[in-house]
Amino acid sequence: LGNRSTGKMGFAIAEEARRRGASVTLVTGPTYLAEPAGVRVNRVETAQEMRDAVLGSADGADAIVMSAAVADFRPEQPVPGKLKKEDGVPEIRLEPTPDILRELGSGKGDRVLVGFAAETDALETSGRKKLEGKNLDLVVVNRVGAPGTGFGSDTDEAMILARDGQDEPLRTWTKRELAAAVLDRVAKLLA
Ligand code: C5P
Repeated sequence: LGNRSTGKMGFAIAEEARRRGASVTLVTGPTYLAEPAGVRVNRVETAQEMRDAVLGSADGADAIVMSAAVADFRPEQPVPGKLKKEDGVPEIRLEPTPDILRELGSGKGDRVLVGFAAETDALETSGRKKLEGKNLDLVVVNRVGAPGTGFGSDTDEAMILARDGQDEPLRTWTKRELAAAVLDRVAKLLA
């Protein structure tokens, strides 16, 4: 339903891509981070809004990197007002949110597509499954749930899995280093 993602990874990628001369559109959920200079920023609040914004920018893109930790479920019937405590404990029925990356993967074309996978265990197996299941070129498998890695952290314990088999083993990276490594790969694939 929710998580502690701050957007740091996506902002690092947008900033690094811009530094390398790319024309960048950054679609972001709510965050306190300062907008990188020279980047088009499109702010959204829900998974549906993110889907519409990403799909709306996808046509002109050479590469799409989906580092957003999108919620997998949303309430089926959101309540506009306040839930009164006196009415008892509410039961909230959930429904899946649109899987943006899966939709991008099914109409992939020539675009380079990079996904992220936040995992607590079986990192490589789970990452490989995502790479194939969502039709990606690269997946960054990020360990979450341990200190110094994952949501909100400035460093990540991560591996990069590639469709062409050129994997990068698990190691600790700053988000900036990880952004640079991902974009090195994207540039190679585009060339
Ligand atoms: O399957 P899982 O949610 O773990 O896959 C994670 C990847 O899929 C991330 O790249 C994330 O940005 C993307 N995703 C998405 N739409 C969702 C959920 C995840 O694009 N509703």
